[in-house]
Amino acid sequence: MGLEGHTALITGAGQGIGRACAEVFTDQGAALVLIDKNPETLEEVARVCKEKTDRILPLALDLTDLELLGKELDGVSSSFEVDILVNNAGFDKPGTTGKIDREAFESVLGIHLSVPLFLIQRFLPAMRSRKWGRIINVSSIYGIIGGKGEVAYSAAKAGLIGLTKSVAREAGKDNVTVNAVLPGLTRTPTIESAMAEKFKQQIINDTPLGRIAEPEEVAKVIAFLASEDASFITAVALPVSGGWGI
Ligand SMILES: NC(=O)c1ccc[n+]([C@@H]2O[C@H](COP(=O)([O-])OP(=O)(O)OC[C@H]3O[C@@H](n4cnc5c(N)ncnc54)[C@H](O)[C@@H]3O)[C@@H](O)[C@H]2O)c1
Repeated sequence: MGLEGHTALITGAGQGIGRACAEVFTDQGAALVLIDKNPETLEEVARVCKEKTDRILPLALDLTDLELLGKELDGVSSSFEVDILVNNAGFDKPGTTGKIDREAFESVLGIHLSVPLFLIQRFLPAMRSRKWGRIINVSSIYGIIGGKGEVAYSAAKAGLIGLTKSVAREAGKDNVTVNAVLPGLTRTPTIESAMAEKFKQQIINDTPLGRIAEPEEVAKVIAFLASEDASFITAVALPVSGGWGI
């Protein structure tokens, strides 16, 4: 199993791509710290993963409360020594430049940039001391092509690519790789419930593979970047988009 002996912290693990990561990483033998603000979905994911391993620690909390996050992480047993960090949690607040207000803009930057930076600052020093670590940031195709009416989200996801490449430059000499994954349209509960069919179809029409991704297809790429097989890949912003937007 490719991730045996490692411990991954996955944010936004309660559903969608984060949940798929939790399941794929469990199958590959990793111990997991799973974080989500939704206690019900998180508990269900933890239950499913615990059928295969007891090395699962679910933490139900709002990541944007950085003080609380820090305290909760202080209380995590040293047997969960995180050496793989998957910054996946996110949300969107659509709006054009004319309509987006500052609070909405800053909350989107907060979850996609401040939270990943906080977690990187928290776990990178130990990864560097141990001379092994993996950080995978979940960005978006919108981070490279922008999105009409997606000013905050696109800016945040582009920023996350810049953060990824900068940390990769710092940490490479200590054998810590830092990469971003850029999903295209992916069949997650939020997309299924919140995106209009007409808009989905437009993206599918622009996607050479002509379909939406399943969350597992993104999670398997994240697991690959976390594995030993990806030992010489760092500072990459890898589209997992069926060819959309590249
Ligand atoms: N689904 C797509 O088409 C798509 C495309 C490109 C990028 N992405 C990115 O992939 C990542 C996962 O997307 P998804 O579609 O699986 O999302 P989702 O909305 O289905 O799930 C996100 C999870 O994150 C959790 N979360 C959100 N804010 C949180 C907070 N403050 N504290 C703790 N937990 C929080 C939610 O409770 C939820 O369980 C996101 O960063 C998203 O921007 C998704």
